[in-house]
Amino acid sequence: MRKSVVPAAGLGMRFWPATMALPKEMLPLVDRPAVEYGFDELLHAGLTDVLVVTSRAKRAIEDHFDLPPEVAQVAAERGVRLPSQDLHLHFRRQDRPRGLGHAVSLAEDHVAGEPFAVLLPDDVLVGPPCCMEQMVDIARTYGRPVLAVRRVPASLVSSYGVVAVRPGPRRGLHDVGDLVEKPAPDDAPSNLAIVGRYVLPPEIFDVLRGQAAGVGGEVQLTDALRRLNVTHGFLAYEFPGRVFDTGSKIGFLQATIELAAEHPQLGPDFRAYLASFMERLESGSPAAAAPAVWRPT
Ligand code: G1P
Repeated sequence: MRKSVVPAAGLGMRFWPATMALPKEMLPLVDRPAVEYGFDELLHAGLTDVLVVTSRAKRAIEDHFDLPPEVAQVAAERGVRLPSQDLHLHFRRQDRPRGLGHAVSLAEDHVAGEPFAVLLPDDVLVGPPCCMEQMVDIARTYGRPVLAVRRVPASLVSSYGVVAVRPGPRRGLHDVGDLVEKPAPDDAPSNLAIVGRYVLPPEIFDVLRGQAAGVGGEVQLTDALRRLNVTHGFLAYEFPGRVFDTGSKIGFLQATIELAAEHPQLGPDFRAYLASFMERLESGSPAAAAPAVWRPT
């Protein structure tokens, strides 16, 4: 499997006004645009033929990966390499926000009848293991489509697609019984929320063609998966690593802090700073001058 689709056409309204002109996928997580973390995962999983579905205000994504050779050379001298330099990137625009299901349907020509992966770049996943790599392996082993899930508090289920599951072929791998997009907490079949990673068969395009608008008046991918599940029997892979929903402000901040604390160069100084800030917070004087525990790197 080589083909993948990265839907990045959303308006990013949860981050307005920050994302009115700047795509949310380009907001930096420490020193890299958020979308690069997803590209890393695709590269690791060998999903190198990538269609990015963008929209009008998203040109910066295309520009970022259109690296002139002289910049690429200076970057290489400084040890900077973008995952996209090893991927074949294609771009296609969605004319207006019509939902995730519609964005995925635009990939039909790109996918050309093969099984393929979908990666939602808002969800930044930190392994090991590499989630997409595991999912490609699972799809190959069992010959079934796969989606990734994680447990969330019941109060958060209405922000996600949620799956009902039965015991599957092995620990951490469930059979999907049903899927519901953004259910009210009382209607949720479980607290297993869909993470933005899918391995899908090309038959999804037939289902998407006839898919009516769902929650929010948009064509929902989850609704199409629900119908496809009847004939294709999805597996739900419970990803054991960390998941940051960087489409939400709190998730974005959590990712920033954890990735900074683990950053190879920045990490030690940032952790020292964080510890001193926590002390000041606990002593009730967070506004006291920050000690100079870090230096520019
Ligand atoms: C989308 C999907 C949802 C999934 C979520 C994961 O929702 O529709 O099923 O749980 O991504 O991040 P969105 O975040 O676009 O509202």
